[in-house]
Amino acid sequence: MTTTYETLRFERTDDHIGIVTFDRPKALNAINSVLVHELGAVLAAHKGTGLRALVITGAGKAFAAGADIKEMSGYSALDAAFFSQQGQKTLGALESFDAPTIAAVNGYALGGGCELAMCADLILAGKRALFGQPEVKLGVIPGFGGTQRLVRRVGRQRALELMMTGRNVRADEAVKLGIALEVVEGDVVEAALALARTIAANGPAAVKLVKRAVHETDRLDIDAGLAAEASLFGLCFSTDDQTEGMDAFINKRPATFTGR
Ligand code: CAA
Repeated sequence: MTTTYETLRFERTDDHIGIVTFDRPKALNAINSVLVHELGAVLAAHKGTGLRALVITGAGKAFAAGADIKEMSGYSALDAAFFSQQGQKTLGALESFDAPTIAAVNGYALGGGCELAMCADLILAGKRALFGQPEVKLGVIPGFGGTQRLVRRVGRQRALELMMTGRNVRADEAVKLGIALEVVEGDVVEAALALARTIAANGPAAVKLVKRAVHETDRLDIDAGLAAEASLFGLCFSTDDQTEGMDAFINKRPATFTGR
């Protein structure tokens, strides 16, 4: 079933996969305040509803070519700070979404589009994907988390080079730098759906706990992180998926997971 919003579409497949498609192709899916709001609303509406993976992509030749320059051009300093905060909030909701998220980057992922992709768990890059933080060319800096997440992803020196030059990188370099997971030769959305289905075939409760174990501990030192892992490992043993997964292994049959 597909729900159409002003700036995006949301589809939920029968096998519990969500697909968000940014749908402003004439503006290369530029991220305006409506899109920020609608993406936030979609994430809030579908969190905790049993989705097993979420794929995010863009209609046409862009993933998203950045925050909407035409909308921002008239902003006051206060408007801009508010827009940045709202964008960061929505992207934070994507980053902490309870199911695994995959950005299928079909084309331009620039500025806010690159920042958004970096909030997905996995990024697949189509052959025409182009990543970058070109904000300085417009006289501004990244405002949806780029100065923080790009540094953590590619290291301080490379992040500064990319953000100071505004240089864009193609799919193969994005993989080399660790921005994207891999380059897809064929249809990147199909590849993302195939990856989503591979993930969805595993115990959904465990997959969510893997994400929690990684995300919720990345600001902790290793001892605190290991303690958190042990707690979450223990939590797995309160789920039906653990009972089913281990019983299926022992009895040499396929597991049927419920996500509970
Ligand atoms: N905002 C608003 N509109 C945009 C846009 C954006 N970020 N990017 C593209 N568009 C619009 C263009 O204005 C154009 O609209 P019109 O037909 O009405 O003129 C349409 O999309 C097609 O764009 P182009 O004609 O420019 O397409 P192209 O193929 O020649 O170039 C491009 C593609 C290289 C991506 C170029 O459009 C471009 O450089 N876009 C801006 C990229 C950018 O600077 N992004 C960062 C934005 S700032 C930001 O994101 C801040 C933040 O962190 C929050």
